[in-house]
Amino acid sequence: MKILSGMRPTGKLHLGHYFGVIKNWLELQDKYDCKFFIADWHALTNKYKETEHLKENIRQMMIDWLACGIDPEKATLFVQSGVKQHAELALLFSMITPKSWLELNPSYKDLKFNLYYQYLKDFLAGKQIKIILTPPPEPFDEALEKATGKQRSKIFEEYLREAFHRAFYNQKGIDFKWLKEVLLKFGIQKKIVEEVIKNLEEGDVGKDIDTLGFLAYPVLQAADILIYKADAVPVGEDQLPHIELTREIARRFNNLYESIFPEPKALLTEEAKLPGIDGRKMSKSYNNAIYLSDNKETVEKKVLEMKTDPQRVRKTDPGNPEVCIVFDYHKIFTDKETRKDIDIKCRKAEIGCVECKKILAENLNKFLEPIRERRKEIESNIEKYEKVFIDGTFLARGIAEDTMREVRKAMKLWEL
Ligand code: TRP
Ligand code: SF4
Repeated sequence: MKILSGMRPTGKLHLGHYFGVIKNWLELQDKYDCKFFIADWHALTNKYKETEHLKENIRQMMIDWLACGIDPEKATLFVQSGVKQHAELALLFSMITPKSWLELNPSYKDLKFNLYYQYLKDFLAGKQIKIILTPPPEPFDEALEKATGKQRSKIFEEYLREAFHRAFYNQKGIDFKWLKEVLLKFGIQKKIVEEVIKNLEEGDVGKDIDTLGFLAYPVLQAADILIYKADAVPVGEDQLPHIELTREIARRFNNLYESIFPEPKALLTEEAKLPGIDGRKMSKSYNNAIYLSDNKETVEKKVLEMKTDPQRVRKTDPGNPEVCIVFDYHKIFTDKETRKDIDIKCRKAEIGCVECKKILAENLNKFLEPIRERRKEIESNIEKYEKVFIDGTFLARGIAEDTMREVRKAMKLWEL
């Protein structure tokens, strides 16, 4: 079985990447013919204005992969932009891909949705309307009426999301009617509501990604995958629509010309149960991530900042590990016995959160230490390790060119 997967070079890897992606790759590389690549062209689809960090991000990703044990002896490692054939195939695919397949792609819609949503939140925050902290003055349905404080804010957020969904996922294109209703019902001044809606409708939000490259993101991804005739692609759930589109493009090509491409399947990676230190999804943009490259002290500091059972205010209050992020981490990094002990003592208020966190920090550091050590080694011999990716890129190029010859022939294109 041929496996291919890629990652956009967004910067240093954090624990979310490790348990969401890398751990899976480590297992796959032992069993299958694997290719892993850094999708640097894909990084440009939304970050084309900020290219100054691109090279460094690629290098950091190389270091992180190798430090984690991704092994060039077992898998082919390369950089997308080093294999120009991906671009050629993407171009040819763009000829046969109906625009509507791309416009209806849920990932594309979701990305737009998130941009607009973030804009609204920032806008309201700028007007001193803290939708997270200040509950809306006028409850407008039962769930909301019963809710208090934080719950109310949460419900408000849910309403907003719902309104946004309606704005985007309807037949008429973008329609902010529902959003306007929700904002007004939550007691936000009419003037402000009108202003934000106007900005959303006519402003610059989303304009940055209103590009051909962004829309065609999945076409490039299909080329990445099909050019190596991969059978399976390990990805997270958010990528499923892209894989589905890849299959559709393969099918269309095979029908139009010659049956060259297998239809790859997605190998769904389990959602990692490792939230960021504030309890939300671990992400660079939330500033809640623990990086593989964080030093010992940073890890200790971040662990001490972690949210715990919110009901446990004083040390004498019994806690509930089931709702505690720290305990989610213990499940991964702490041996069973100690964990059981913590579980019991926490429920009886016999262990304090600080002590509990110190145990975690120590175990986490034990896990990270070997990765850090290897990082240091790699960083001080960076040229030697970069060469691994250069060799991999040459190897990938050969395979990609073989496929392209078949493609050009099948399409009856002119060739030297
Ligand atoms: N879109 C993927 C992501 O954001 C990255 C990617 C690009 C990819 N090309 C790919 C993943 C090909 C798998 C196969 O995570
Ligand atoms: Fe969480 Fe540990 Fe505190 Fe219990 S003792 S609430 S598990 S940090």
